[in-house]
Amino acid sequence: MKRRAKKKDKGGYYYGYGEGAVEEAFRTLRTNFFSAIKTPEGSLNTFLVTSPAPGDGKTSILLLLGKYCGEIGKKILLIDTDLRKPAVHRYLNISPEKGVVKFLRGEMSIEEVIHPTPLQNVSVIPCEETTSNPGTLLTTPRFRELLSYAQKHYDFVFLDSPPVLLVSDPGILAQEVGSVILVVSQGQTSRRAGMQVKNHLERLNAKIIGVILNRAERSEGGYYYYRYYSSKKEE
Ligand SMILES: Nc1ncnc2c1ncn2[C@@H]1O[C@H](COP(=O)(O)OP(=O)(O)OP(=O)(O)O)[C@@H](O)[C@H]1O
Ligand SMILES: [Mg+2]
Repeated sequence: MKRRAKKKDKGGYYYGYGEGAVEEAFRTLRTNFFSAIKTPEGSLNTFLVTSPAPGDGKTSILLLLGKYCGEIGKKILLIDTDLRKPAVHRYLNISPEKGVVKFLRGEMSIEEVIHPTPLQNVSVIPCEETTSNPGTLLTTPRFRELLSYAQKHYDFVFLDSPPVLLVSDPGILAQEVGSVILVVSQGQTSRRAGMQVKNHLERLNAKIIGVILNRAERSEGGYYYYRYYSSKKEE
């Protein structure tokens, strides 16, 4: 599948390419995802989306998870917790002025920083500024308050993050959130890097509920884009 030529990458392909291989792959992925999140106590609902390295496709996949869960009536909240390089607002083409940092600093209420998006049933808390030390904001009682509000009011909450192998905040987020969706990129993520991240997250007691292989090649040519692997067997 060819990407559209565009001046500035807004990640627009995530809803621009509504048909064909992406759609098919993502609907299958959604089914597998629903199966992976079931626990004896009920369904998990809050997930950190992370990956080993920059550019693996975390933000794009976060948006697609939102889109494909939202289109079947699930109420979705996306939170841009990549406080170093926020991009969710850019991909959604919305203003990030009122965002997660203002909430975490106590300058705004949760309701003030939640915005609608062009995606059905999907709301977002963008990140309005970069900070060089996100750890201090992500370990506050305000962050826990945000998580518990989101868990209570939404069917699914997806949090974006920086790459695990580069900085420490994905580890902090993984500990706070508990459930992780790991994105790996074909041709970019080495087996060693994948294992390193898996071991790191497991040491932090985070549960990897599934691994999404981005940019996966199809045997007959072209791209599948996404495949989903879960430690749980499909039902
Ligand atoms: N399956 C795909 N096919 C084609 N292009 C893709 C695919 N997935 C992501 N991209 C493109 O790759 C770039 C990086 O994607 P994205 O921003 O989602 O990655 P990221 O892991 O969030 O990056 P960062 O670590 O910088 O936050 C973007 O230009 C995006 O449009
Ligand atoms: Mg990103």
